[in-house]
Amino acid sequence: MLRRGVFFSHRDLDLILDDWASGGGFFLYTGRAPSLGMHIGHLIPFMLTKWVQEKFSVNVYIEITDDEKFLRNPEYTLEETRRWAYDNILDIIAVGFNPDKTFIFQNTEYIGKMYSLVIKIAKKVNFSEASAAFGLKPSSNIGTVFYPAIQLAPTFFEQRRCLIPAGIDQDPYWRLQRDIAGSLGYLKAAQIHSKFLPPLTGPEGKMSSSIPESAVYLSDDPKTVERKVMKHAFSGGQPTADLQRKLGANLEDDVPYQWLYYFLEEDDSKIKRLEEDYASGRMLTGEVKQLLVEKLNSFLEKHRERRENARELVDVFKYDGALAKRMWSSVPP
Ligand code: TYM
Repeated sequence: MLRRGVFFSHRDLDLILDDWASGGGFFLYTGRAPSLGMHIGHLIPFMLTKWVQEKFSVNVYIEITDDEKFLRNPEYTLEETRRWAYDNILDIIAVGFNPDKTFIFQNTEYIGKMYSLVIKIAKKVNFSEASAAFGLKPSSNIGTVFYPAIQLAPTFFEQRRCLIPAGIDQDPYWRLQRDIAGSLGYLKAAQIHSKFLPPLTGPEGKMSSSIPESAVYLSDDPKTVERKVMKHAFSGGQPTADLQRKLGANLEDDVPYQWLYYFLEEDDSKIKRLEEDYASGRMLTGEVKQLLVEKLNSFLEKHRERRENARELVDVFKYDGALAKRMWSSVPP
């Protein structure tokens, strides 16, 4: 994902690597606002986070914002967002984090431990800065005004520098963090940003739960995946096989190709061959879609197996693992 430019921009990654090289180390922070189901795009930052943890053997903090989801959506109850938190945590554990170096915390449970830190942050941000960064309006509920302080707090969980892998949409939080970190005596957090995986239905816009065919959910069964891809995936190929053979596909518009490129086909030589064959017209749209269906279904099958095994690990990641225990027994700095 780094080589292929899914993670396409960063701030201070060089400082993170310097800190690591000089023995000081760093820590990772990422998060999720729980919803009824996660789609494959949501996994991208978690997959990179897991990889970095493995390579550098560093701590990971994962914030589950059941509060944020509740506050931002008039129709959701707190009972719902908490239930989804449990469910989404299973998907996150399934990515394969190290249970002794990873702390998954749910805001409505952990807030007491963070509260001193959160109010120190809240005091540094005034209403006009927050509304400029997050588009707050006079009619916004006051929970959403305060919430950003809670998303910034974990960037100060250790004295070392924090690296945040996240989608680019989360960047306003990190700019704010960098504005105030120094005045609180902390380091500015570093970021590595991922692009948004485009919706199945077209290269523009976002995967959305209100348009179920725009996304592939981690719970979609093989038949659903096949139907979504074959019927709804936006193709850059030509309308007929004859034209496709003559003119070839436009890869920039082709969502199945992009999903394969961004995270499903790891083999560089295979992706190169696919590009050449599809752009030249030797390969047809149906074949590329079929390849995507196979890759998605084998990815999801493995994911679901790991997700089942995750059930017995929830308490380890939240309360009993080495890092979790430490975070519950002492207040973050
Ligand atoms: P949320 O739950 O909307 O999204 C979780 C993570 O997934 C990223 N993301 C995507 N990445 C690639 N392609 C997509 N189509 C796609 N859709 C979503 C998001 O950028 C995010 O990284 N406020 C946060 C929760 C949060 C958080 C954090 C996120 C709390 N602390 C620290 C990152 C880092 C939220 O609503 O994420």
